[in-house]
Amino acid sequence: MRLIIDTDAGVDDAQAILMALAHPGVTVEAITTVTGNTHVDWVIRNVFTVLSLKGVRVPVYRGAASPLVPGFWQPEVRVHGEDGLGNYRNRPAEYPPTEPEPAAVALVRLADAAPGELTLVALGPLTNVALACRLDPDFPRKIGRFVFMGGTIAAKGNTAPHITAEFNIHCDPEAALIVLEAFPLATMLSWETTLYHPFSWAQYDALIAQDSAAARFVADTTRETISFLRQHPRVPGYLLPDPLAMAIALDPDLIHAHEQHYVAVEVQGRQTRGQTVVDYFGLLGRAPNVDVVTDVNMAGVYELFRRAVS
Ligand code: RIB
Ligand code: CA
Repeated sequence: MRLIIDTDAGVDDAQAILMALAHPGVTVEAITTVTGNTHVDWVIRNVFTVLSLKGVRVPVYRGAASPLVPGFWQPEVRVHGEDGLGNYRNRPAEYPPTEPEPAAVALVRLADAAPGELTLVALGPLTNVALACRLDPDFPRKIGRFVFMGGTIAAKGNTAPHITAEFNIHCDPEAALIVLEAFPLATMLSWETTLYHPFSWAQYDALIAQDSAAARFVADTTRETISFLRQHPRVPGYLLPDPLAMAIALDPDLIHAHEQHYVAVEVQGRQTRGQTVVDYFGLLGRAPNVDVVTDVNMAGVYELFRRAVS
């Protein structure tokens, strides 16, 4: 599998990238970066920090530093820290340069050079992917498979004030609208599916207890968040949005249940800007554009994650 990862790394993005790097059947051909959890310049440093942990070189491209339309982006400091990696200390002394091309231009070139060959996994706001769709209208058809973490499928969001929206889509709703209208079929790993598929705290503890630099990295970058989350009895366990999206991209057989629907994006709602609106009953008469994943084989996800941090 030839993979491109678009990311706003991000604590959980970093775990997803480790999963891809550890998978024997996968080549990560490029990583494109976008502002989301933190500013894109921190995202770039975070990606290079993960790559240096595994001692691998992957071309990294600088992407959009802000959403298509100014307005709502706020870094998710509470979960990801100022730097986007939970204030992680053990960083490389210096970072390699990013590639000269802007991320969207690289996405178009890479897809054009290998039509139908590439799997694109988007783990942050869809700004770069939307720009690629505008630079080359055939970009979506040149991508073999598109999987994204984002959106809500039952209006249970994780952002404010638009509480029915999920963070990635809420950062750049116009980009999500462009992308979902452009791709024939996008595979969606939503916030609700994330909520219903946590690791247990015992599983999380076992993962970070492994004697490896990657396990220590996960422990160090999640410590602040975990101490915050574990106090909340309503939090079912360790939530892993981006690793779930990466797992179903790496191994589609891990998808236990999915359903295709037409999904729109709200860009104007006073209460609901950024909500992904699922037409469950086909009321709009539009062809499905999203494969909504509703159940995942968590034993398989756990094994991919364990391998990534072993
Ligand atoms: O809402 C969860 C998503 O927002 C994840 O991708 C997380 O990394 C943040 O970007
Ligand atoms: Ca992310």
